[in-house]
Amino acid sequence: MTKVRIVQADITARPVDVIVNAANHTLLGGGGVDGAIHHAAGPDLLEECRTLGGCDTGDAKITKGYRLPAKYVIHAVGPVYNFENGREPKLLANCYKKSLALAAEHGCKSIAFPSISTGAYNYPIEEASKIALQTIRDFVAENPNRIELIEAVVFSDRDHRIYRRTYATVFGEPTESLQ
Ligand code: AR6
Repeated sequence: MTKVRIVQADITARPVDVIVNAANHTLLGGGGVDGAIHHAAGPDLLEECRTLGGCDTGDAKITKGYRLPAKYVIHAVGPVYNFENGREPKLLANCYKKSLALAAEHGCKSIAFPSISTGAYNYPIEEASKIALQTIRDFVAENPNRIELIEAVVFSDRDHRIYRRTYATVFGEPTESLQ
């Protein structure tokens, strides 16, 4: 059975096979979790990102993890809230779908996601957490045991509370929660 859990932590320190980055379409770095991942991975990550030719919104590309504990980084480009002509929910769900598919293709057994689009891209976290956890739940139902552990990593206490509440609604039971 795939385990899905909420973790309040710095995603760059997660001991998983792959961490997901909330990137922008250039894939050349930025602030927030993107900045933290590039800082922790070191300059070789940017060098590899330069070879990728950017990435569309709702899509994702994979690189090595360099100095991170994670073997890989999946760079997903989330929608900017209110700037995608109503396609925001679909584009956000696609980020999670593509990332999970890429992780499985690369043989990853554990993956950690940040709360994509809910920082600089302004997606309300109540809505975004529902899309994130529903998409993860559907992937697990369709691909049993393909990935053993899926973490939704949150930073703040408020985000942690919201994700725990959403988890209970989406999965019908309280989450195991790490801090
Ligand atoms: N670990 C886990 N979560 C984090 C960390 C961390 N180290 N740092 C921030 N968060 P954001 P976006 C949370 O703004 O909204 C960048 O400049 C943060 O609290 O990082 O998708 C990119 O280059 C929030 O809940 O990503 C893009 O231009 C969540 O990560 C743009 O920002 C996402 O916030 C992408 O914006």
